[in-house]
Amino acid sequence: MKRIIAASFALATAYATAGDINLPQPVTKGGKALMQVLSERKSTRDFAARELSPQMLSSLLWAANGINRPDGRRTAPTGLNVQDTDVYVMLASGVYRYDAKLNALTLVNPGDHRTAAGKQPFAQSAPLNLFYVHDRSRGMKSDDANSLRFAGIHAGAVMQNVYLFCAKEGLATVARANIDYDACAKALKLGTGQRIVIGQSVGYPQNDGFIGRQAAIRAALAHAKFHESDVRWLKCELDREDGVMVYEVDFKKDGFEYDYDIDAKTGTIIKAKKERD
Ligand SMILES: Cc1cc2nc3c(=O)[nH]c(=O)nc-3n(C[C@H](O)[C@H](O)[C@H](O)COP(=O)(O)O)c2cc1C
Repeated sequence: MKRIIAASFALATAYATAGDINLPQPVTKGGKALMQVLSERKSTRDFAARELSPQMLSSLLWAANGINRPDGRRTAPTGLNVQDTDVYVMLASGVYRYDAKLNALTLVNPGDHRTAAGKQPFAQSAPLNLFYVHDRSRGMKSDDANSLRFAGIHAGAVMQNVYLFCAKEGLATVARANIDYDACAKALKLGTGQRIVIGQSVGYPQNDGFIGRQAAIRAALAHAKFHESDVRWLKCELDREDGVMVYEVDFKKDGFEYDYDIDAKTGTIIKAKKERD
């Protein structure tokens, strides 16, 4: 039991709290057909506590406002290509700014600031909140009102990219204007000329029908005929393999490394591998 608790605790966050985070390469190929994704796009406000894996977050941020061409242009269009929208990422571990060029999260404010995420309770417990922030210094070279008008359109394009990505991945999401903007700007440590246009909560839907990490760990250990107290380096992560959500369970024992994929919905063992460590 001790090890499972330790494993669950270690899994409390996959994100470093003390510095910037390099993201894995985003997956930019494949997925559902566009018309199916459009059919499934919707707002959902019930989020499971489970956080997104760094891989999923990387792909989501690329879809949101990543660089999709060698000249640095983005997945979301902007008037005159001003690229005035920054995506701020609020996780339980801290607030970060997405750096599309480096494919990294730049730490802005460590710690859990989700109480400032929004006035609706789900925003404060969702594992991920995104904020689309207009930077006036990069905005349209016109008066403030026009620059803000464009900023709204630009952030709206990013927001819809995220809605579509979430529809493709079966994630829950909702755009959110219901924010205490002053409190949130403080949590995001915004400077003069920066303004939150809108937020968006993202996570796994609450009733996803998954068996849960502990059941996946139990299934893998039962297959290997070990007790949890026998093994070392027990890890369990939710991921997508060939379009199927799986729990990847890994552990070590007696010089061997064990690697399992457990179907997240049915609990069926899809892969069971044993290799010399
Ligand atoms: C600009 C904008 C602001 C929104 N603000 C909120 C919000 O603060 N809270 C909320 O629960 N939903 C918010 N929504 C979600 C809408 O309520 C939702 O899109 C609408 O009811 C239509 O539902 P659908 O997205 O499932 O089609 C917002 C949507 C947009 C586009």
